[in-house]
Amino acid sequence: MPSEMPLAVERHIRWIGPSGADLMWPMDGYEPVRSFDEATAEEYDALVVRGDEDATVAFLDDLAQGGPALELAIGTGRIALPLAATGVRVDGIDFSEPMVAKLRSKPGGANLTIVIGDFCDVAVDGSYPLIYVVFNSLFNVLSQDDQVRCFENVASRLTPGGAFVVEGGCTLGWLDRVRLGQYVEAERIDVEAVRLDVLRLDPATQMLYENHVQVTRNGARFTPVVQRYAWPSELDLMARIAGLHLDQRWGGWNREPFTARSENVISVYRA
Ligand SMILES: C[S@@+](CC[C@H](N)C(=O)[O-])C[C@H]1O[C@@H](n2cnc3c(N)ncnc32)[C@H](O)[C@@H]1O
Repeated sequence: MPSEMPLAVERHIRWIGPSGADLMWPMDGYEPVRSFDEATAEEYDALVVRGDEDATVAFLDDLAQGGPALELAIGTGRIALPLAATGVRVDGIDFSEPMVAKLRSKPGGANLTIVIGDFCDVAVDGSYPLIYVVFNSLFNVLSQDDQVRCFENVASRLTPGGAFVVEGGCTLGWLDRVRLGQYVEAERIDVEAVRLDVLRLDPATQMLYENHVQVTRNGARFTPVVQRYAWPSELDLMARIAGLHLDQRWGGWNREPFTARSENVISVYRA
């Protein structure tokens, strides 16, 4: 390495090298709640239109046995509000006040009972025939211990025969998009603005470091997200530790078979 090369350039060359160990570093100073601040809450619904919302609601409605249902990480109510509109009582937990304020501002949002706090505690009264966590939100919990604690607390709040539905899990279909442990995706390209998804994962620690970067002529805005991902088989073991077992596994909300090519995983656990 030439000695006159600026340090920043030297670092860049080392980071993109194929040497493995040098590729990994944590996102210092990251706080999970920062991913769901006011600006994110404001734009969340416009950015997150997946197209499988109706199928998600129909799937959950089938399992709810009339309710009540509890959504962990209820967010802006993308799923909770249409599920509640079917007549099922839906309660929720979320630690982001801006996300919940957005939910509350929508039709029907003021009627839901929502606990502001860490969903791993499942600090609610009563029990539920259906508890669910969708959109990989279980992986916002950054340690295996806390993910197991979440399963255990859910198990203690399920009615006999009740179901815990988890959407998320590492799959080969998703991993295929990641080359040398990273990717950059152009999410949106306008004339004077771009939105990029910049991602690295560390398979040794099962940590995923991601930042959605919006660059406009007024500057850049960063939305960092860190997740601790798990393979479906690890989720099954967490469930077993909590006294639950896998009842169903699907590759999508329309009950597509789960295969090696699936990009989504829906797991239904029961006591
Ligand atoms: C990707 S959003 C999903 C929101 C909603 N479930 C949906 O499908 O649109 C993740 C949500 O999880 C919440 N969250 C993440 N970790 C949490 C935790 N440990 N306790 C409570 N809420 C959490 C965030 O505040 C955010 O609202």
